[in-house]
Amino acid sequence: MVALQSFRPHSFLFSILIIVFFFSFTISISSAATETVQKVCNQTSYYRYCVATLYSDPRTPNADPYFLAYISFGLAYLNASNSHDFFSHAVNNTRPHHHKLVQSLTICQDGYKRVVSALETAYEDLNTESFAKLGRLSRVAGRAADKCNRAFSGVVKAPVGSAAPAVAVRNRDMKRLSEICSVVSKLLGASK
Ligand SMILES: *[C@@H]1O[C@H](CO)[C@@H](O)[C@H](O)[C@H]1NC(C)=O
Ligand SMILES: *[C@@H]1O[C@H](CO)[C@@H](O)[C@H](O)[C@H]1NC(C)=O
Ligand SMILES: *[C@@H]1O[C@H](CO)[C@@H](O)[C@H](O)[C@H]1NC(C)=O
Repeated sequence: MVALQSFRPHSFLFSILIIVFFFSFTISISSAATETVQKVCNQTSYYRYCVATLYSDPRTPNADPYFLAYISFGLAYLNASNSHDFFSHAVNNTRPHHHKLVQSLTICQDGYKRVVSALETAYEDLNTESFAKLGRLSRVAGRAADKCNRAFSGVVKAPVGSAAPAVAVRNRDMKRLSEICSVVSKLLGASK
């Protein structure tokens, strides 16, 4: 007990240090955001999410628009395949008599399958520097996320209703990433 009490001031100090660290980290991120990142994120609906997401990749500070496209589409691809796995797993592990839930999950699973495939095509297009279809390919993700949301909307009854919040977070992230990719694509189209 005594040992625990004497330890408290340390953990308090530690918390303060953590907080200070995170504040300086956030400040250095926003002031260090490169002009390319600012230019992209300024055109998205969620500036801070956009900057934080792009900076989750350590290569972002040195990225030109072309490389930033790789990073953006790469993040979107990871997100989409993660969600596709999630929905496939959920469909397989839901009892068939929950018809409505299986139906909603399947809509999302199919949608995310299309997104993964579109983002694979985008990646090949980036490799061959053919930028014309990138905008269209990035918007597949936003549409699939909307459709998945609609499949879960308006149902409050369990089990469909109880799955809705987790699904909504995935779709929200996917839509934001889709928007980032779409803006980066415009940037490439304009500079080529
Ligand atoms: C982004 O927007 C901010 C505020 O609206 C502005 O100060 C900044 O110059 C813009 N940056 C670019 C690169 O467009
Ligand atoms: C779901 O079930 C199908 C058919 O049984 C199987 O091919 C697939 O690998 C399973 N997916 C997951 C994520 O469990
Ligand atoms: C991708 O999706 C997962 C699951 O919703 C989320 O936790 C994660 O933050 C997302 N990643 C990015 C880069 O947005």
